[in-house]
Amino acid sequence: MTAKNFYLTTPLYYVNDIPHIGHAYTTTLADVLSRYHKLYGYDVFLMTGTDEHGQKVQQAAAKREVEPQAHVDEYNVRFKDLWNEMNIDYDFFIRTTQDDHKSYVRESLQTLFDKGEIYSEVYAGWYSVSEERFFGEEELVEGKDPIGGKEVEWLEEKNYFFKMGQYQERLIKHIEDNPGFIVPEFRANEILGFLKNDLRDLCISRPKSRLEWGIPLPFDEDYVTYVWFDALLNYVSGVRNRKFQDGSSMWPASYHLIGKDILTTHSVYWTTMLMALEIPLPQHILAHGWWLNGGAKMSKSSGTAIDPIPYMQKFGVDSFRYFVIRDMVLGNDASFTDEAFERRINSELANDLGNGLNRVHKLLSRSFEGVIPQVDQLGEEEEELKLLGESIIRKTKDLVLGLKLSQALEEIFVLVRAVNKYLEVKAPWQLAKDDNLRDDLARTLVTSAEAMAVALKLLSPVMPEKTAQGLAMLGLQDHTAEPEWGMLKAGLTIGEGQALFPRIELVEKPAKGQAQQPKKKKQQPQGDVHPLSKLDLRVAQIVGVNDHPEADSLYVLQVEDGEGIRQVCAGLKSSYTPEELQDRKVVLFANLKPSKLRGLESKGMLLAGDGADGKAKLLNTGDLATGTVLSWGDLDRIPKSKASIKDYDKTPVKAEGSKVVADGKVLHFGWAEITTDSPDGAEIR
Ligand code: MSP
Repeated sequence: MTAKNFYLTTPLYYVNDIPHIGHAYTTTLADVLSRYHKLYGYDVFLMTGTDEHGQKVQQAAAKREVEPQAHVDEYNVRFKDLWNEMNIDYDFFIRTTQDDHKSYVRESLQTLFDKGEIYSEVYAGWYSVSEERFFGEEELVEGKDPIGGKEVEWLEEKNYFFKMGQYQERLIKHIEDNPGFIVPEFRANEILGFLKNDLRDLCISRPKSRLEWGIPLPFDEDYVTYVWFDALLNYVSGVRNRKFQDGSSMWPASYHLIGKDILTTHSVYWTTMLMALEIPLPQHILAHGWWLNGGAKMSKSSGTAIDPIPYMQKFGVDSFRYFVIRDMVLGNDASFTDEAFERRINSELANDLGNGLNRVHKLLSRSFEGVIPQVDQLGEEEEELKLLGESIIRKTKDLVLGLKLSQALEEIFVLVRAVNKYLEVKAPWQLAKDDNLRDDLARTLVTSAEAMAVALKLLSPVMPEKTAQGLAMLGLQDHTAEPEWGMLKAGLTIGEGQALFPRIELVEKPAKGQAQQPKKKKQQPQGDVHPLSKLDLRVAQIVGVNDHPEADSLYVLQVEDGEGIRQVCAGLKSSYTPEELQDRKVVLFANLKPSKLRGLESKGMLLAGDGADGKAKLLNTGDLATGTVLSWGDLDRIPKSKASIKDYDKTPVKAEGSKVVADGKVLHFGWAEITTDSPDGAEIR
């Protein structure tokens, strides 16, 4: 593996699932990263595929009265079709039912068995059909499986176990010694937290009497392989007979891209499997957050999964790709709403980029008959724009290679907006009226067109089709080289004009003079919603502290909530100094209806309890990142768009030990619990 080789993987999607925007996101992210790396001269190999064994597949096939193999042959195509439609340029689509994968899994199992890494034992435990695994008593949450919250049953049977536990210390050391191994860093801390408990051995078999649809164990044909043990090996099986162009092997992977829900299987099961097989570990595991429908978790069963296809059909594949890459800050959850989609597309793509490009194109066509004019010398303003363009080319590369894609797009739009501002100042449509100003006109148009070309090129991995069309409008056909200032040479003939990003209308607006219609209700899970589910509680950070001009007890705080900065007025004067609050992370009740406190707007409330000293104690958020959305126990999050304080007060929230508890449910994110310094029983509000 050399520095310029890049092997990237997506998870293998369960073949039974209907792809939703969560799946579409991971794959888009992989494609965008792959295209950027290609642009920067890397030899890239991108692998995706489907996870085709296991109980759910067996059951689904039985229900349709077809053989499991026929079932998966039919269903994996849904993913392939979607990836083609979304312009995903993968290099290989792996299926866990293909022969060379199956034989690799069997070889690996035999190796581990021969090395004494696998043993058999009669095992008793709580089995979850939906998660297809056993849980220890202590792992259950209210008697249900801790991941999906589904029923579990007590089972006793002989099984085979991988000696995962013996790798605990080595794994901890590897994570501690390699800070970028799990990204973002707070996810590494979650795994280190998980590894504070004893790591158990992993059950890697299922008796055929219970499950037939799997890879038989080579050393006991009465058993099939646990689906995760099988699926994870794809990352090696898929590339073991391939090489990068320079002849080096593809493994170890540069990045495994995954969602946060499958972090343990990747960073604990997979890495210890590799240790036992004496295969080098992947360089990075990157866990992104979840796309939420509004604020609620998406699930097929509750009808809240969002289908990406209608968005792409109506507004174009590239708009969809742009939105998901722009709106999810890697690591954090993000909310998919029609409002956010419309806002992004209209303000950034239609307005800033599309209009800007059209203006430049029109003026070049009209004033210079569609041929890029000669420019002898740049003025001060043009030099400034050029410097900005060059610095954004560099910044984008740094951000992209650091996987900060949303921020990279933000920077590229700094350039786009600078061009629009420059055009406003120079007003080339005025210059065009005076023949004596033709040099200035040429300088203005060529500089703006150049900056637009740079921006389009920088955006090309995210929107390959639209940017190719945009570049063709400016006369550029080759999009494979790294962007640089100076691509538009004098004499180049520009292409036909076209409206690349029409404005979209997705959210119904009231007709003029009519009262606002009630908004269409989001699909929500049926049945009674627990009052705690309606609260949007999230980790936020105080970024500014001022005194309230009209109230001695209040601070006016500027609070970053992961999506932007909002103002919150809080009665914390007698409890905290401004220095103590500056940069502090807090728990924000984010969907509390905005109100005015002594004339100043306040959006949301910071949660705190009384301390033993009579002062307020803000909740502690540990290592959780700003914007992290918090849940109560196993409850789904279905936040109201605007909640009231009455919604909050319906379920008393109290300190219990250091935990924050309401109705027996602990406030947490994954394994990380929110803690309080208030004494037991104190009210948190
Ligand atoms: N088959 C396993 C992975 C095996 S990898 C060797 C699996 N499949 S999955 O189809 O359930 O999920 C695939 C990916 O989709 C996961 O990374 C998961 O995090 C992601 N998403 C599923 N729902 C999601 C959202 N709502 N938002 C973002 N991604 C989510 O797990």
